[in-house]
Amino acid sequence: MPALHVPVRRVLTGISPSGMPHLGNYAGAIRPAIAASRQPDVESFFFLADYHALIKTVDPDRLQRFTLEAAATWLAAGLDPGKVWFYRQSDIPEILELTWVLTCIAGKGLLNRAHAYKAAVDKNTAEGQNADAGVKVGLFMYPVLMAADILIFKAHSVPVGRDQIQHIEMARDIAARFNHLYGRHLELPEAAIDDSVATLPGLDGRKMSKSYHNTIPLFAPAAKLKKLIFSVVTDSRTASQPKDTEGSTLFQLYQAFASQEETTTMRAAFVDGISWSDVKQALFERIDAALAPMRKRYEELIADPVRIEQQLRDGAVRARAIAIPFLGELRRAVGIRNIALGSTAPVATRPKATSLARFKRHPVRKP
Ligand code: TRP
Repeated sequence: MPALHVPVRRVLTGISPSGMPHLGNYAGAIRPAIAASRQPDVESFFFLADYHALIKTVDPDRLQRFTLEAAATWLAAGLDPGKVWFYRQSDIPEILELTWVLTCIAGKGLLNRAHAYKAAVDKNTAEGQNADAGVKVGLFMYPVLMAADILIFKAHSVPVGRDQIQHIEMARDIAARFNHLYGRHLELPEAAIDDSVATLPGLDGRKMSKSYHNTIPLFAPAAKLKKLIFSVVTDSRTASQPKDTEGSTLFQLYQAFASQEETTTMRAAFVDGISWSDVKQALFERIDAALAPMRKRYEELIADPVRIEQQLRDGAVRARAIAIPFLGELRRAVGIRNIALGSTAPVATRPKATSLARFKRHPVRKP
C-alpha cells in the first residue's frame, strides 16, 4: 500500500473522425495515449468528436463512415473500453447544453482570435471578400464546444498537438470566467504536450502528414505497405558504403517500431554496410509484424459495426453517469433551477453576481 494517497488524474482527448490515420498519427498520438491510459491513478476519457467533424463536412455517409473507422482504429490499437471512458460526443447531450451556458459567458473577442477562424477571415480579406464570407458560426464556436467537451468531465490534462494549445487555453479562460461569476465549479484544464514522442518522416522525408500526401496508412494491406516502403527515396550509395542513421527516413521509421536491440543492430548495419533494399525489406517486415495483429482486429471490428455501436452506447451510459449530475450542479449554479426550491428572497434585495463582479474590477465613483 502506498503511504501517500495519489490523486486520480483525469486525462481527456477528442478524436476527430477524419479518415484512416497514418503511421505518424499512430506513433505520435494513438500509441502514447493508449499506453498512458493503462497507468494506474489515471482516468482516461477518449471520445469521437463527431459534432466537431460536422463543422467540416456536409456529407452524411462520410461522417458516419469516418466515425466507424476512428472507433475501430482506437479499439484495434488496444484501447480498453472497460478501463477507459470511450464514447461518441453526440451521445452526450449534456455537452451541448453546457456549450450554450458557456456561449453566454465566452467573450466574442476571445473567439475572434481563434486560429482557424482568424485564418478564414485573413484569407477572405486577402481575396478582397467580406471578412466572414462562407464562414459558419460552427467554425467560430469550435473552441466553445471543445471547452464543453473538456469541462463537463473536469479533465485536468488534455494531450493535444501544438495546433490545439490555443483551444485548451480558451477552455481555461472560459472556465475561469464561469468560476468567477458562479463560484468554483469547473476544473481548469491544462494542455499536455509530449515532446518526447516521435514525429515520423513521410515517404519524401518531410514530416508525415496528410497535407503533404506522403503518408503510409496505418492499416494498409501488407502488399501496399511494402510498395510504399520501397518507394521511399534513397541516395545512390551501394551496399558496402556506410550510411548515416541521422536524418535517414528509413532508420527513423524503423526505430519507431523496433526494440532497443533491433535498433542497435540496424544502426551497426548502417555503419558496416547494408543495401537500401535490405533496409527496406527489414523495415517492411518490422512494421508488418507490429501492425498485422492490429490490422486483423481492425478488419474484424469494421466488419461488425453493430458491436462497435453497442460499445459506444455503453461508453456513453458510463460517461453520462458523470455528466448528468454535474450538468445539474452547473444549471443550479447559473440559476436554471426548480422555482419552488431554495431562495425565495425578492431579486431586488439580493446582490447581483454579475454587476458586483464588474464593480470590483472598475470601481464606480459616486458623484
Ligand atoms: N479539436 C481536436 C482536433 O482537431 C479534437 C477535439 C475536439 C478535442 N474536442 C476535443 C481534443 C477536446 C481535445 C479535447 O484534434
